[in-house]
Parts: sequence; structure tokens; C-alpha cells
Amino acid sequence: MRRQPSGAGVPPLATMRPELLLLCAAVASAAYIVPGAPISELARRRLPSPTCDVIEDIAAAAIDDEEKEMINSIAGPRAAGYGEMLPQGMRALIARTRLGRNDTFVDVGSGTGKLVLQAAADSGVARSVGVELSPTRHALAQQALDERIAQGADYASRVAFICGDAIADPAALEAIGSSTVIFCNNLLLGDETQAKLAQLLEEAPSLRAVVTSQPFAYPGLQGFALGEQTLACAMSWQVPLRQWEPMPPGYPCAVYERRKE
Ligand SMILES: C[S@@+](CC[C@H](N)C(=O)[O-])C[C@H]1O[C@@H](n2cnc3c(N)ncnc32)[C@H](O)[C@@H]1O
Repeated sequence: MRRQPSGAGVPPLATMRPELLLLCAAVASAAYIVPGAPISELARRRLPSPTCDVIEDIAAAAIDDEEKEMINSIAGPRAAGYGEMLPQGMRALIARTRLGRNDTFVDVGSGTGKLVLQAAADSGVARSVGVELSPTRHALAQQALDERIAQGADYASRVAFICGDAIADPAALEAIGSSTVIFCNNLLLGDETQAKLAQLLEEAPSLRAVVTSQPFAYPGLQGFALGEQTLACAMSWQVPLRQWEPMPPGYPCAVYERRKE
């Protein structure tokens, strides 16, 4: 629904001085009528997380062609593409998976590391790990972490970033193997990478919940139940096209929970 300026306390238009009228018109048009704002502007509109200030410009995740080719050759023809879950989406994930201090959270393909930092800051997990194949995005994540360590953020000591292929790098395999909750924004990952990842998740002994932006291909995740209800997580590519429109409710993510034996 289009927002309307409140009329409370505003004198009738006919009685207003012309310069005041002009000022009101300028303010109203700036606040409510800004058609054609560039999509990059809109992509920055996100609700801040209450305890985590990792709100950076998504364009920073851009990488050069050489790096794109490297990632695509390893993880699938579109794997270098980029988009992010927004802080409000991560909050929904934390609530649905009941992420807490007994958990080790891993974001597979962690980009610039926002979700990993938010998980540590907002949910108090024992360990929060990001695995990212792009050296540029990994460096931004590490830089954000270093800044928080320098600021004395208590949660920073529970965060780690690994630069490497999530399904082959030894440190990544260790992190996945000891995780309890995993998120993977897997929309752009190639089929082979997804199949190998699914196998790693099935074999992770303490893994209890997995959230993905699309379900794994048949036969899914053996030993896990795919929740009937998807989890609506706001994503960066879902911003409204016009500023006065509300945020879409979220992108439907798959939630897997380990079956009880
Ligand atoms: C869609 S972005 C998701 C960023 C972040 N997880 C989020 O949802 O906000 C996916 C990221 O996965 C990375 N990636 C692709 N294949 C990978 C692999 N095999 N191992 C680690 N990272 C990978 C890409 O470079 C990209 O930064």
C-alpha cells in the first residue's frame, strides 16, 4: 500500500504561506515519490539487525572476470553469481533452527561474511564459520572480522572464515564435519557441487538442521526430513521495485531436520 503523509498538525493548504507550501511539496516528493531509483540503490535498503552492524554495500562483492571463471570452473557455470540473505532473513533462520550457544553454524558460500557475523552476534553460537571460494569476498569478510576484533566485539572470537572450495578444502571439510546447523544459498551452485555437498552433510555426525535457498535434487538429504513449511527469508534480490512498496515477505527456503532414530 502506498504510504500517505500524515495530516496531523498540518494547517489547511489554503491558509499556508507559498514558500512553506513549496517546502512541503519538496519534502513530500523526496520522501514518497522517487520513481526510477536505480536498482543498486534499492538493493541497499535493508532492515538493520539489532545487534549486528554488518550492513555493507552489496556491490562490494563484485569480482573480476578471472575470479569469476575460476569459481565457475570449480563449482558450476553460474556459481560465481552473487546475492545475499538480508539481516531480517537471517533472524528468521535463527528462530526457525533455534540456533543457540550449543551450535556450530556454517555458511557454505559465505560471500562477504555477513550471515556468519550475524549468527555469532545475534544467536550466541559457540562457533560461526564461513567458507568462501572467492578470495575477494573472503578478504572482505576477514576484514570485517578484523575490524570487529579491533573494536573488542565479544562475539568476534567465535567467528572464523575459510577461503576455499567447500567440498574439497580440508579446513572446510572439518568445519562442515563438526557443524550442527548449515546454511547454503545454493541457487547458483552446479549440480555436481550440490550432490557432493549433500553427501558431506549426510555424513556430518552432529549436523541437526540445514537451510538452503532451494531443495537438493532427488533424493534430497538422506537421514533428514524436508520441512513441509518453507522458511521465508528476505534476500537482496527481492527488494521492491518502487520505494513506497513494502518489502516482499521473503524467499522460500528449504529447511531440513535430522530424523530421530
Ligand atoms: C549467493 S552467494 C551467498 C552469500 C551469503 N551466503 C548469503 O546468502 O548472504 C554464494 C557464494 O558462494 C560462493 N561459492 C560458490 N561455490 C562455492 C564453493 N564450492 N565453495 C565455497 N564457496 C562457493 C560464491 O563465490 C558466492 O560468494
